[in-house]
Amino acid sequence: MAQPPAPETLAPKALAKMGADLIVEQALVDGRWISGTGKPITVENPAEETVLGQAPRLSGAEVDTAITAAARAFPDWAARKGQARGDILFRWAALVEAHEESLAALISLENGKPWKEALGEVRYANAFITWFAGLAGRLDGRTIESPSNEHLILSFREPVGPVAAITPWNFPAAMVTRKAAAAFCAGCTVVLKPASATPFTALALAKLALEAGVPDGVFSVVTGANNEVGARLTGSPLIRKLSFTGSTEVGRKLAADCAPTLKRLSMELGGAAPLIVFEDADLDTAVDGVMAGKFRAAGQTCICPNRLYVQAPILDAFLERLTARVAALKVGHPLEAGVEIGPLIDPKALDKVEDHIARTLDSGGQVLTGGGRHDLGGRFFQPTVLAGGDDRLFAAEETFGPVAPVFSFKTEDEALSRANASDFGLAAYLFTTDQGRALRVGRGLEAGIIGVNTGLVSNAANPFGGVKQSGYGREGSVYGVDDYLQIKSMTLALGQAARDD
Ligand code: SIN
Repeated sequence: MAQPPAPETLAPKALAKMGADLIVEQALVDGRWISGTGKPITVENPAEETVLGQAPRLSGAEVDTAITAAARAFPDWAARKGQARGDILFRWAALVEAHEESLAALISLENGKPWKEALGEVRYANAFITWFAGLAGRLDGRTIESPSNEHLILSFREPVGPVAAITPWNFPAAMVTRKAAAAFCAGCTVVLKPASATPFTALALAKLALEAGVPDGVFSVVTGANNEVGARLTGSPLIRKLSFTGSTEVGRKLAADCAPTLKRLSMELGGAAPLIVFEDADLDTAVDGVMAGKFRAAGQTCICPNRLYVQAPILDAFLERLTARVAALKVGHPLEAGVEIGPLIDPKALDKVEDHIARTLDSGGQVLTGGGRHDLGGRFFQPTVLAGGDDRLFAAEETFGPVAPVFSFKTEDEALSRANASDFGLAAYLFTTDQGRALRVGRGLEAGIIGVNTGLVSNAANPFGGVKQSGYGREGSVYGVDDYLQIKSMTLALGQAARDD
């Protein structure tokens, strides 16, 4: 019997249809799909600059309905056995796996990342669902030794309550599951607001969650204007926690808005990751690491190396290899086979990349490859390598584009102090064959996530989160569920027999 064609060999049109078939132009509120009362939000395909669809603009009252439903559904969901919630998560994961090629196509359509990379994102997203499915039956508390013989203390880990999650456009699937699966594992209910640029992947995932058995009200996905939806979520006393991934600027505002209701907060905010290559590094490993970390999602991730520091004796050799690799990257339509770099998300993103390049040239740097908009036009930008100029710009602002600025350094101390000279502290990378140096510098770097001889640090087992202005809280890993749990202690009086001891 003839097998269906493998997705890599499908024509872009067939992939586009698979993705488009998953589009739901409705929001999910309390288990019902609603069209919303406001003027819909246009969602674009960034590669073609065409309209992909319309997402509902929910009114404040419609968002409130989702919040009330999350509060109503919470006690029953929280009271279920952890493993019963885990079983639903496992079913969700199986459905995501069954639809992974189409979900990847949908991500390519609304976000612009190449289909193969989008498939990697779907698998990364699904790894969070299975990870937290497995953890759901293991949310044990402790017995605690009391200072007095008369008492025994027990601690329980309980869900914090209904949670609001606000997710970004650069990982339309993985940021949804990293938050929602952890929350469901803990026994929390979720009202999720996806980025307005990429709402359809979140809605498609929610549809599969309902099919897997997530009860009405446990998972609502509310689309609409950032300010209006955000204000309802942060202002509601029914919402007990907010988990946000996005810019530091927006994170600060959301944290302030949550202060009156004293919500628990997880903030995964901006980064300006340094990447250090020492003279003893294996050069191929270092260049591979830069390619994997810097050019993932066309440079539009919070953990992309934003500034590369290379020790002076190997600078020329490193630049030669890196420039050749970057110049060979294939830029193009995300659904075309072999494409490695898709478009940037919107015109503002291109302006920012151009601004960073111009400011580097003004400060004495030079362009080694790329440096401008791509011949394909629209939102496509040339993968770029810069050398020299002032690194302080890249320590202060994320470029969020396919630009690798390289600077040289002389000593380990200098590398460490320049790497740490930033208000941000999300990820940092170092390349060396000296294990002592790896540990010494790794421990000295002010960042939450360190990659040693690798540019890829994203997986479900790795605690993900930052320090300084990159935020707080950890996602994924054994710690990721803690942000959704609170401790209750119970002190038991042991009675007469114990007192007689
Ligand atoms: C992000 O850019 O916010 C997330 C990146 C990742 O999970 O790898």
